[in-house]
Amino acid sequence: MIKPETIQKIFDAARIEEVVGDFVTLKKRGVNYIGLCPFHNEKTPSFTVSPAKGIFKCFGCGKAGNAVKFVMEHEHYSYPEALKYLARKYGIDVEETELSDEEKQQMDEREALFALNTFMSDYFQEQLFQSEEGKAVGLTYFKERGFLEATIKKFQLGYAHDAWEKYSKYALEHGYSKDVLVKTGLSIDKGNRLMDRFRGRVMFPIHNLTGKVIGFGGRILSSEKSTAKYVNSPESEIYNKSKSLYGIFFARNAIVKQDNCYLVEGYTDVISLHQAGIENVVASSGTSLTEEQIKLIKRFTPNITILYDGDAAGIKASFRGIDLILYQGMNVKIVLFPDGEDPDSYARSHTSSELENFIRTSAVDFIKFKTRLLLDETLGDPVAKVTLIKDIVQTIAHIPEAIQRTVYIQECSAMMDIPEQTLMNELNKLLREKYRKKLRKTTPEQQLEPESAIDVMKQPAGRQNQIDPLDISEHEKQIMRLLLLYGNRKIQPPDVETEKIIDEFGKEVVVVQEEYVAKYVLTNLENDGITFENKLYNQMADEIKKMLETGKVPDEQYFTQHMDDKIADEAISLIATPYELSSSWKKNKIYVKSEEDDLSKTVVSTLNQFRIKVISRYLREITEKMKTTSDEAEIFILQQQFFELKKVAKEIDNELHRIFDY
Ligand code: CTP
Ligand code: MN
Repeated sequence: MIKPETIQKIFDAARIEEVVGDFVTLKKRGVNYIGLCPFHNEKTPSFTVSPAKGIFKCFGCGKAGNAVKFVMEHEHYSYPEALKYLARKYGIDVEETELSDEEKQQMDEREALFALNTFMSDYFQEQLFQSEEGKAVGLTYFKERGFLEATIKKFQLGYAHDAWEKYSKYALEHGYSKDVLVKTGLSIDKGNRLMDRFRGRVMFPIHNLTGKVIGFGGRILSSEKSTAKYVNSPESEIYNKSKSLYGIFFARNAIVKQDNCYLVEGYTDVISLHQAGIENVVASSGTSLTEEQIKLIKRFTPNITILYDGDAAGIKASFRGIDLILYQGMNVKIVLFPDGEDPDSYARSHTSSELENFIRTSAVDFIKFKTRLLLDETLGDPVAKVTLIKDIVQTIAHIPEAIQRTVYIQECSAMMDIPEQTLMNELNKLLREKYRKKLRKTTPEQQLEPESAIDVMKQPAGRQNQIDPLDISEHEKQIMRLLLLYGNRKIQPPDVETEKIIDEFGKEVVVVQEEYVAKYVLTNLENDGITFENKLYNQMADEIKKMLETGKVPDEQYFTQHMDDKIADEAISLIATPYELSSSWKKNKIYVKSEEDDLSKTVVSTLNQFRIKVISRYLREITEKMKTTSDEAEIFILQQQFFELKKVAKEIDNELHRIFDY
């Protein structure tokens, strides 16, 4: 772990415009810089860098973040990798913390597993090229398959002897523990001895994103059916099958460059395509694609092309998995190989340019592909066609983008010869159902929006509405946003008494009490005993309070450059989002442009609306309690509380009316 002091140094040193400037040509525009967004294609610049806030924000694609986030997104680095990059750029020594004993043990264990895998991978390669059996059996096999020596070396392919305990013994002799051998899955514990898991097989090491060996696949050479064609490492502390993709380390750069990822089934498909010059390819290794694997690809590109070996049954079986990819907002294309061919065999029997040409010309959009395939099966069968329509519309409903959904509806309508409106109706029905299901999960209680706290009691019972009107998350966001943007500005709160003093010339002067926005807001909330529902906000508020105690106030950059990346992310999204005029904000006559012009008005009214909302919630709780209790004394106390709170709410209401005189 990098020491917090070092992280702080890096954040302090990194100037957003310099960091971004290394990758994007920036032009000064007022206090900000603008340029062409590196995260999406655009011709007119909407990518903005704000040195004052220490953040970048693209108004085209919505990406936003601080310097560290920029490096992570642009270079596809992890958090520590990005920090180290910036440290190098600014000449900062990276100091790492001592780990706790427990962390150390865990680290040591993971490291030990990696170390053994590397050691064994080297050993298997050596055996392939140097041992008699390896050369005669393994190397011959690879060569017969058309793998060149350079390819074999690149993918670090190897050979495991046809023996019971050969490599287990060898590893033990070289100081690797029995425990680690078993945990990597390389050896199987047989009580008094270890047995090699991979026997008489050619070996395919499986790498993670950074190129470390996390597991192995071993292929049998004979075509006998008695043993499985492949034996694979079991899951371990370093190998999680649902999160790994074979070939990702060798493909990552090409995926970014081509802005597309080919997905194939097997180890040999990946290797053959590489040898043919197509490097943006990964394999799901025979299992169906998981959400985590999709997200891994999505870090590099939103485009996936699935290469199938042609077998309608197998393809249809995978349709469900593809809906999952669409749901992630990815674009999916399909390439179908001719009967009996897979990417590997096709690559071997054709030239590289034939292969590339074939893939390019036969890639079809998934939804069109599915429609066509199913349509062919329903010829002359109206009942089957109805099922087909529902099926296709269901798939389209998985796409998160409305515009994209509409385009597909148009195209499928033409293909299926069904009116667009019919499909649209079906789609809307599905979307409504989905929406309702989601609501049922999130908001158990539903009421109408009250005009103010006073109206809470007038609510007709059981009216159904979409969101809880007393949901305060939006208000909390607005408060936090004001704290972040204007916390260190001073305002003259209306409820603070002005003071009259006599100056040295004997003249009466009015002293206006000014206060930091941060201080004003937080003191008021504290006096009311109000805390945020959002835990992160409480953490941030506590931090501001601590600073205020020492007489300091955080500036705009304080939270956007925070070491806790959860806090930094939240702060950036709050600051980067323009003040949205939701209906309730409009009703209270606060407008975007005026928010800074009359800061004290903005702050006071935002704060008071928040307080009213919180009080309304208390009132609701109290009325509910009153309904369920029959204890006279308790009812009396509840009534007292109720009127007390109502009075406060009324006062705030009046105050708001006074300020905005409406
Ligand atoms: N697979 C597996 N276990 C099996 C069969 C297959 O783990 N018994 C996985 C492997 O990851 C394999 C992939 O499924 O790479 C695809 O299977 P298949 O097409 O049968 O294997 P290929 O890699 O294409 O091998 P080959 O070309 O030598 O037949
Ligand atoms: Mn195959």
